[in-house]
Amino acid sequence: MSIENDLALIKDYDKEYCLQVFAPLPVAFVKGKGCYLYDTEGTKYLDMIGGIAVNCLGYGHPKLTSAICSQAKSLIHACNYYYIPQKSELAYRLCRASFADKVFFCNSGAEANEAAIKLARSYFYYKDINKYEIITADMSFHGRTMGTVAATGQSKFSRPFEPNLPGFVHVPYNDIDAMIEAVTNKTAAIMLELIQGESGVHPADLEYVQQVKKLCVEKGILLIFDEVQTGIGRTGKMFCYQNYGVAPDIMTLAKGLGGGVPIGAMLTTNAVATGMKPGDHGSTFGGNPLACAAGNAVMETIEDDNIIDNVREVSDDLFEKLNKLRAKYNCIRSVRGKGLLIGIEFDDTITAPGMREQLFRMGFLVSSIGSSTIRLAPPLIITKAQTAQFVKALDKILKDVQGPKNVFDKIKDAFPAKKQMIQEKASKAGSAKIDKLDELGLTAETLKTEEIPDDND
Ligand SMILES: Cc1ncc(COP(=O)(O)O)c(C=O)c1O
Repeated sequence: MSIENDLALIKDYDKEYCLQVFAPLPVAFVKGKGCYLYDTEGTKYLDMIGGIAVNCLGYGHPKLTSAICSQAKSLIHACNYYYIPQKSELAYRLCRASFADKVFFCNSGAEANEAAIKLARSYFYYKDINKYEIITADMSFHGRTMGTVAATGQSKFSRPFEPNLPGFVHVPYNDIDAMIEAVTNKTAAIMLELIQGESGVHPADLEYVQQVKKLCVEKGILLIFDEVQTGIGRTGKMFCYQNYGVAPDIMTLAKGLGGGVPIGAMLTTNAVATGMKPGDHGSTFGGNPLACAAGNAVMETIEDDNIIDNVREVSDDLFEKLNKLRAKYNCIRSVRGKGLLIGIEFDDTITAPGMREQLFRMGFLVSSIGSSTIRLAPPLIITKAQTAQFVKALDKILKDVQGPKNVFDKIKDAFPAKKQMIQEKASKAGSAKIDKLDELGLTAETLKTEEIPDDND
């Protein structure tokens, strides 16, 4: 029996037999090529979310598919009772590309973070030091296991499963004073995302990250970066910490590392790796030949095909185009992120789920976060021409919903603007519009020196 091309049946079976923890859009994808997905009807979608930052090489990439196929033919699984060449090679590649000396492999981001949490505690245990608390940020996201929901700084993910694992302290993000205040003589580690992806694509400030590092060094605290979403080229460097010039003691990866094949990894230094002894941690599937062959193909392709250069080029172009849209439409509150991890936040005239649905109907896949932000995390191989198609679709939707800014909105944005030019425009516009200027609070005194943006923007 195959239900592959019958959407109604797929939906029925899902409802009947799958735990209902997701709320899928009414579509099932059966094929992918490059940056496009094809549904049961053969309809094509440009994937601007890439399986939530997973499909970094897009779909059907020849190097990745051939590595997976050839590994599947020779050996899919051999357990950690034995040496695994693909695992050794991938560990070498990751260490060569990062601050790390040692790698532990697992199957997901949450498991990588579990390993990081355990290592942060066992490191001090073996030193006979009673430190076990881990400080994380409000609005962070670290996974769905009991340990990682306790680490996550959003109680909605842990409340139904209480009591929570103790030993986690949450502080406001990007607030160094709050971080300093939260440190006690029990603090083992500080764990941060450098860009909070799940809660709306909020980057950490450079100064904040540098100060956190300084605090860790001064107080003998381990620094953990959760790069599950930001790692593997996503932000225009192989790892996001390289944008900050601040190396952690422990880093976690997953998502892009296997290009779609489940794999997670925890990386650390030789000094911190002393905190785990044989038998302290493990995984049946972690580091298996198939997943590591995929990881090796992803790392090799990203390096050999200069994919990170593409991320930077497409990202610069996309940010420029999105910021032009922001200048054109009032309802875009902010465009933020780094590389190809981007959040677009709207004001309350647009809902993010509504925008996601509208884009979906036009053949573009994004994710919505909360009521106001859509997230983009397309394959790293996407082209400028493809992202331009997305921007065009977004422009069309916003034009239909809201219409472009009028000249008065633009004057408000350019505030303070050249007094002379504003006054000339206002007098040409007639008295009704001069009233509008008053409403905007643009008085003769405050309208000063800057250029008014071009009306064609
Ligand atoms: C920063 C971060 N950490 C951890 C996780 C959990 O990863 P997984 O779903 O693979 O367990 C995610 C998933 O979105 C994430 O974005």
